[in-house]
Amino acid sequence: MKLLITGGAGFIGSNFIHYWLQNHPEDTVVNFDALTYAGNLENLKDIEGNPNYQFIKGDICDKELVNEAVKGVDAIVHFAAETHVDRSIMDSAAFLRTNVLGTLNMLEAARNNGNIRFHHISTDEVFGALGPSDPAFNERTPYDPRSPYSASKAGSDHLVRAYFHTHGLPITISNCSNNYGPYMFPEKLIPLFVTNLIEGKPVPVYGDGMQVRDWIHVTDHNRGVEMILQKGKIGETYCLGGNAEKPNIEITKLIVAHLGKGEEMIEYVTDRPGHDRRYAIDFSKAKHELGWEPQIKFADGLASTIDWYVNNEPWWRSVKSGEYQEYYQKQYG
Ligand code: NAD
Ligand code: TYD
Repeated sequence: MKLLITGGAGFIGSNFIHYWLQNHPEDTVVNFDALTYAGNLENLKDIEGNPNYQFIKGDICDKELVNEAVKGVDAIVHFAAETHVDRSIMDSAAFLRTNVLGTLNMLEAARNNGNIRFHHISTDEVFGALGPSDPAFNERTPYDPRSPYSASKAGSDHLVRAYFHTHGLPITISNCSNNYGPYMFPEKLIPLFVTNLIEGKPVPVYGDGMQVRDWIHVTDHNRGVEMILQKGKIGETYCLGGNAEKPNIEITKLIVAHLGKGEEMIEYVTDRPGHDRRYAIDFSKAKHELGWEPQIKFADGLASTIDWYVNNEPWWRSVKSGEYQEYYQKQYG
């Protein structure tokens, strides 16, 4: 099988490529990535020489290049996106371009090259925000996106479903909760806080810190995507979650304690505009239909993730200083 992975130089995509080649060493993986600020080939350095791995630097909005890249591919797993909510508040246009128009391009290329199997990676944020006692999101929850990021992901999900109904494209979608693990860009809560603390800097908690996210280890997410590719029903959506709802302040305190720092490092700062209060996922459909459920306990996954950042200081220091981009710009332009 030959897989085309978009956004494979990012956090979840690079973990997916590692996961796939470890578990399916006979398969070929093509990584199609524009290397935006969030893309980092350092994440894949160990497999650079693997004959079953190929990298193409390309923008999913580039119709011709995408059309060429998908030729001969058996399945597309579409991770590429602009992903940071805070950036979407400052500049929404890049989110609409990549997440909506880029996804449209990918769908068109899949349709025009023999109806290629297409799995779309989405987020629980498309469902909006929950109150403290609301039931968790499931596949039938109406869409109610509230940030430019989630609005653009909702738009892409609708397009993917439209290509199934209108053109018969063999699609599936997964809506997953907040991921954590190695290679996560240090602008997101967990890696930002871990690396700030190692650098002796305070950690900025938005508002009262009582916003709740459901955290899933990236390996559990990627195993879910694998099972959807293998056993998922065409045209269907699957919600994937970590069974680990936690307020931000609880995670913050766990990180501070794990690194042996004091709580004086916690700084409450102005809240994010329109900050969603709570996300939660009911993954019973994936459990019953695919036999999938998360396996990594949050306490264990968080501890190993913190340790990964402690042990991989050169990786995140070059990301935080911007050095990683200079290096790859020289190599790929
Ligand atoms: P990321 O920001 O770490 O990586 C995104 C990758 O996409 C980067 O390598 C970047 O270079 C690439 N990219 C961006 N624009 C591109 C373009 N126009 N053309 C080609 N490549 C482009 O993102 P992530 O956290 O790994 O998220 C991957 C996917 O998973 C996204 O679709 C996101 O919406 C979804 N998701 C993320 C989370 C999470 O917690 N991070 C949770 C649920 C779903
Ligand atoms: P983030 O990692 O940006 O993911 P998302 O917004 O997609 O859930 O943020 C996770 C939670 O942490 C969210 O409630 C916002 C909060 N947060 C902070 O309190 N401080 C920060 O510096 C960041 C980046 C996030």
